Amino acid sequence: MLILPGNSAALDRAVSLLRRGALVAFPTETVYGLGADARNTEALARLYAAKGRPPEHPVIVHLPGFEAMARWARDIPPVAHQLARRFWPGPLTLVLKRAAGVPDAVTGGQDTVGLRVPEHPMALALLKAFGDGIAAPSANRFGRLSPTTAAHVLAEFDQEIDALIDGGPCRVGVESTIIDLSTGSARLLRPGGIALAELERVLGTALLTPGPESRAPRAPGGLPSHYAPSTPLQLIEEARLEIALAVLAREGRRAGVLSRWPEPEGSHAAGWRQAMPDATRYARDLYANLRELDAGGFDLLLVGAPPEEPAWTAVRDRLERAACSP
Ligand code: TXA
Ligand code: MG
Repeated sequence: MLILPGNSAALDRAVSLLRRGALVAFPTETVYGLGADARNTEALARLYAAKGRPPEHPVIVHLPGFEAMARWARDIPPVAHQLARRFWPGPLTLVLKRAAGVPDAVTGGQDTVGLRVPEHPMALALLKAFGDGIAAPSANRFGRLSPTTAAHVLAEFDQEIDALIDGGPCRVGVESTIIDLSTGSARLLRPGGIALAELERVLGTALLTPGPESRAPRAPGGLPSHYAPSTPLQLIEEARLEIALAVLAREGRRAGVLSRWPEPEGSHAAGWRQAMPDATRYARDLYANLRELDAGGFDLLLVGAPPEEPAWTAVRDRLERAACSP
């Protein structure tokens, strides 16, 4: 794997690699993506193989700008234009009816396509130089934690990918918000980097939240085992942490903790990471914190339950999925 700095010579190199069907990991404002030419079915097959991703799971096509939307989607409703104008470039993915010629490999065989214009300057520069869609799922193996630094990507892949652009840590830290506009209403498929209230202000209506039937096949993020460390994880009220730790310690089990509070004197935790107290910075550091704890060799991870407030929706979503894992 070639590791590239984020300068313009490196971006040129990355573009010529992508044109030849290579896999190039690159930073976005949310998480690192693993990019492939979204019109090259051989490159897409390699992308799915590298991730270990089942073929029926669609990937997001990243676009260089608003104007490219019409090349990838058809029957675009006015509300899609409104959302795109307000939130692109940015951490919002719109699911729309796919245009003719969009490969099955990016849509998972569905009649819809997920589109987003990222705002990270290196991602945007790469897309503009490439000139068309780059398919990019998060640059992690299927079902694992998304990477938010170049080092995280290196820990996931070796020779399976061709290059990695190092753009430092990601600003948002959790994946984009996904809204399905392909059915005549606006449905939230995944909470993410954009506050739902802001979206609803532009929509002028409440977002529908997905029913159980729409989750599993359409968005792998909807499968409970997603976004998970390999150590079992439990969410627990912060006030009950110490009691739980004392019980675990008595059973001889070593627990690692992620809490918004400092480790108390005499704590029974085998490891403790203090997370930032506000939702934005908590989200930014979330996957790095979970990776760090996952590497600690603990029997169990205990994570202080985040507040039941709108600002914490995306963080709560990822932690609840992580907690469902075996
Ligand atoms: O922030 C992000 O969105 C990151 C960065 C790299 O842009 N990408 C990302 O990709 O999270 P991935 O593949 O890990 O997750 C993409 C999600 C999946 O849940 C997928 O099913 C959903 O988007 N998706 C993509 N196209 C879709 C479609 N046509 N219909 C429904 N869901 C779709
Ligand atoms: Mg992912």
